[in-house]
Amino acid sequence: MALHNVNPNNDPIFGSEDIHRVAAAKKLPQQEQSPTVIYQMIRDELYLDGNARQNLATFCQTWEEDEVHKLMDLSIDKNMIDKDEYPQSAEIEGRCVHMLADLWNAPDAVTTVGTSTTGSSEACMLGGLAALWRWRDRRRAQGLSTDKPNMVCGPVQVCWEKFARYWDVEIRQMDMEEHHYFMQPEDMLNMVDENTIMVVPTFGQTFTGLYETVKPLADALDGYERETGISIDIHVDGASGAMLAPFCAPDIDAWDFRLERVKSISTSGHKFGLSPVGVGWIIWRSSEDLPEGLVFHVNYLGGDMPTFALNFSRPAGQIIAQYYNFLRLGFEGYQRIHSASYDVCEYLVQELNKFDLFEFLFDGNREKGIPAIAWRLKPGVKVDYTLYDLADRLRTRGWLVPAYSLPANIETMVVQRILAKQGLTIDLANLLIADFKRSIEFLEKNGSTNCTAEDSSSFDHSGH
Ligand SMILES: Cc1ncc(COP(=O)(O)O)c(C=O)c1O
Repeated sequence: MALHNVNPNNDPIFGSEDIHRVAAAKKLPQQEQSPTVIYQMIRDELYLDGNARQNLATFCQTWEEDEVHKLMDLSIDKNMIDKDEYPQSAEIEGRCVHMLADLWNAPDAVTTVGTSTTGSSEACMLGGLAALWRWRDRRRAQGLSTDKPNMVCGPVQVCWEKFARYWDVEIRQMDMEEHHYFMQPEDMLNMVDENTIMVVPTFGQTFTGLYETVKPLADALDGYERETGISIDIHVDGASGAMLAPFCAPDIDAWDFRLERVKSISTSGHKFGLSPVGVGWIIWRSSEDLPEGLVFHVNYLGGDMPTFALNFSRPAGQIIAQYYNFLRLGFEGYQRIHSASYDVCEYLVQELNKFDLFEFLFDGNREKGIPAIAWRLKPGVKVDYTLYDLADRLRTRGWLVPAYSLPANIETMVVQRILAKQGLTIDLANLLIADFKRSIEFLEKNGSTNCTAEDSSSFDHSGH
C-alpha cells in the first residue's frame, strides 16, 4: 500500500491538497496530514477569535514577556501532580504559596498551607469545602444538626453559585439596589445564622470592580459572636483584588489575614497575578483551618504527596510562570504595572465624561476597587440607542467592551465595563476613545441597531 504523502517537500502551503478542503469538524480524519499545512489552517481559523489585547471584558492576562513564553514551552511536559517526579516544580509551587501567605499577612507564612489551582473557581470551591467541613466538625462536636448549611455573600461570581449547587449549600446572596452595590454589615446580619458555614466578601466585584469591604463585615461578625456565641468564618474571594490592594492600596482597612476571622483567601494567578491563563491560588490562615480529612495522601507516584484539589493531572507551566513573575517583578514591579492600569482608568473616565452620556458606577479609584470602570447611560439622557448597541459598534473595530444587565433586583439596569490590564496603554486607550466617538456618532446618526443582550451574549460580565 502506498504511503500517503504527508509532507511533500515542494508543496506550497496554499497550493497543497490538504489546505484545499474544509477542516474536519465531526469525525476524526482517516489519514495524517502535513503539520505545516494543518498548523496554518488552525492558525488562520484562530484569527476569528479576534485580538485578545482588545478584549477589555476579560480579567485574565492577554500579554506575557518572552521569557514566560519560553518557560511555558520548557514546562509543556510537566504534570503538576507528579510532585515526586518533578520535585523542583513542586518546590516552586510551595515558594509561591509562602510568598502569597506573606503578602496577605498570614500569622506564620512559613508554616501555613495553600495550593495552586486551575483558577479562582477551583480555589473558591476548595475554600468553600474547607469551610463546610470546619462548620460540620464544630457542629458535630456539639451534637448539633448539619443538614442545612448556608453561605452568605453579596453579588458573587458564578463560581459561588456552582459551589452552592454542587455541594448542596444554600446560597444567601444580597440583592443589589441602585447605589447599593455590595454587602454591608446590615445586609449580612440579616442573612447569617447558626447554619452559616462562611461569609464570602468579594474583594473586587465582578459586576462593578468595587472592593466589598471586609473589615466592617468582620467587625460585625465579632459583635454577632459576642451576642450569640456563634462564630462565623470569612473566606475572601480576592480573584482580582488580592493581587492589587497589597501593591496599590496598602493603607486601606485590613481585608486579609490581619483579620482573625479571615480563614482563607483565593486569587487568580492569571488575572492580576500576571501569569498565563490556568492558575489560581488558595491560602489558609494556618494549617488548622484546612481539615485534615480533605487532604489525600497518594504514594503511587513515589513519595507521600498530600494533595487537596479537584483535578489530578494539570499543567505546571503556569505555576512556573507565576514564580517567574514574582522573582522578575518583585513588589515594586507589580506596583508599577498595576498603577499604570489605574492611570489608564483615570484617563478613560476623563475622556468618556466628555461625551456627557455616562454615569459611573465605579471610576477605577485604586482605594475602592480594581482597575476597572463601569458605567450606565445617565438617567434622563435622551438617546435612541442602548449600551448593547454601543458595545456592538465597538466590536466592529475589534474592541470587546461588554454591556450586561446587573443581577436580581436591578436587572433592568444595563451597564458597560472596561478592565484595564497590563498592555492597555494610554496610547491604545486614546485609540479606543476615538472609536467610542466614531461609534456614538454612527448611532446618533442611524439610531439603534436593535442589539440585545442575546446578540451580545459573548459580552458576559464574568469576563469569559
Ligand atoms: C470575583 C471572582 N471570583 C471568581 C472568579 C472565577 O475566576 P476564574 O476565572 O479564575 O476561575 C472570577 C472571575 O472573573 C471573579 O471575578
